[in-house]
Amino acid sequence: MKFPFLLFIIFIASFTVSAEKPVKLFDEIYRPQFHFTPEKNWHNDPNGLVYYKGEYHMFYQYNPFGNEWGFMHWGHAVSPDLVHWEHLPIALFPDNDSKDSVDCTEFSGSGLVDLNNVTGLQSGEEKTILLFYTSPKCGQRLAYSNDKGRTWKKYDKNPIIAYDATDDARDPKVFWHEGSKQYVLVIYRKPNNDDSQKGVSFYTSKNLIDWQFKNHIPGFFECPDLVELSVNRRADDKKWVLFDGDGSYLIGSFDGEKFTAESSKMKSDYGANYYATQTWSNIPESDGRTIQIAWMRGGEFPGMPFKGQMTFPCELSLKKYIDGIKLVRKPIKEIELLHSKGEIWQNKNLIPGINKNLAHGVKDDCLHIIGSFKVKTADSFGFVVRLDKKNNGTEITYTTKTNTLTCLGKSAVVEPVDGMLKLDILLDRSSIEIFANDGKVAMSSCFTPSDKAYGLYLYNTGGELFVEKLEVYPMKSIWQKEK
Ligand code: FRU
Repeated sequence: MKFPFLLFIIFIASFTVSAEKPVKLFDEIYRPQFHFTPEKNWHNDPNGLVYYKGEYHMFYQYNPFGNEWGFMHWGHAVSPDLVHWEHLPIALFPDNDSKDSVDCTEFSGSGLVDLNNVTGLQSGEEKTILLFYTSPKCGQRLAYSNDKGRTWKKYDKNPIIAYDATDDARDPKVFWHEGSKQYVLVIYRKPNNDDSQKGVSFYTSKNLIDWQFKNHIPGFFECPDLVELSVNRRADDKKWVLFDGDGSYLIGSFDGEKFTAESSKMKSDYGANYYATQTWSNIPESDGRTIQIAWMRGGEFPGMPFKGQMTFPCELSLKKYIDGIKLVRKPIKEIELLHSKGEIWQNKNLIPGINKNLAHGVKDDCLHIIGSFKVKTADSFGFVVRLDKKNNGTEITYTTKTNTLTCLGKSAVVEPVDGMLKLDILLDRSSIEIFANDGKVAMSSCFTPSDKAYGLYLYNTGGELFVEKLEVYPMKSIWQKEK
């Protein structure tokens, strides 16, 4: 009798030991811990980015039915600081005022607060929040909220710009143009179904409802944005920046109807996954920042309940360099809210083969790494992230001969300044974003690192590297409440 009882105990014990704890939502191995994701399902472009009464709203292209693109709705989240997000119910469902509701799904667009009630849609104390969006085959449309974005109504005289079967128009971005005292809408269009004409059209309006076509410039594809930025932070020196869907941009002037380019088109991100950029509307003047976010298109998240992630919000500005004015993009300062107690090293001269890995004590999957390095005689230097004894990890390499920064198969040239290179690196569970030399070069890419490989390695080859300063902060999760 004793034997079967013993077997029973062994069976129960082995079961208890081998049973894996279920992975908690928002703590999955590829779940970004400080980049935005919806709880589950597919998302793409950020939409309707608007600030109102202490809340940053973010909407996004969302398929509530699965992990692939389709059935586009607008998902919704709010944040007090652009870092911690609260998921809200879906804001926009497909319009059903057409016979074919599949064609009236909700494509990308933008948000704006109707501060002066020019639409006449305000019904109580709260200003109306407007969402401008595209319904493919149903034209450009308007939805609005009278209760701080908690519930949404469709404008009853939609569309506000009629559907045109020959122009593939989509992704309206609306803003106030102080110089000409009117609202401007920039939108992707392909007039006359002519591929060579794919570009941005400009419309203007006094009441945000009746729009007049003004202009079109070819050479752009999807999700345009147009913002005015200071050069070298000088209030008396401003330029307009016209963005394409992939974040590339032209610098120029804008009179309220016509954009005149003063530069060639430049790339703003050298990574593998930066797309559908958009900036927030109605950020208070006292703040004054222009903040951009993008969808990390093409990212893979095997086995995850969600498909997609946003980049970390970044502040944009323009800076004069010897070779002209360039866009500079840096993570917003609120990133510091997520710093856990970090480690700082200063004035360390590293000689390959002699010095051990300076960062050998760091063991984490989410890090903010900020470093300034004097290149000295090193042939190359950089970091290996997410490595351990069994896994080689992922390299972030700077090659001094060619001044090339490389990560995850993508490269960009970054000239050292007075022999110094600065790197600001955001390592999350499924992405690496690198900002070099104060945001002159940015690289946003997704990756799928080895589970549990948490090491960080700072290396240099061929000669000496001087670490003027290196700060490494483990990052707190923005999903603390959900986990
Ligand atoms: C860009 C885009 C937009 C469109 C949306 C549809 O990624 O193709 O042009 O509005 O996605 O989801």
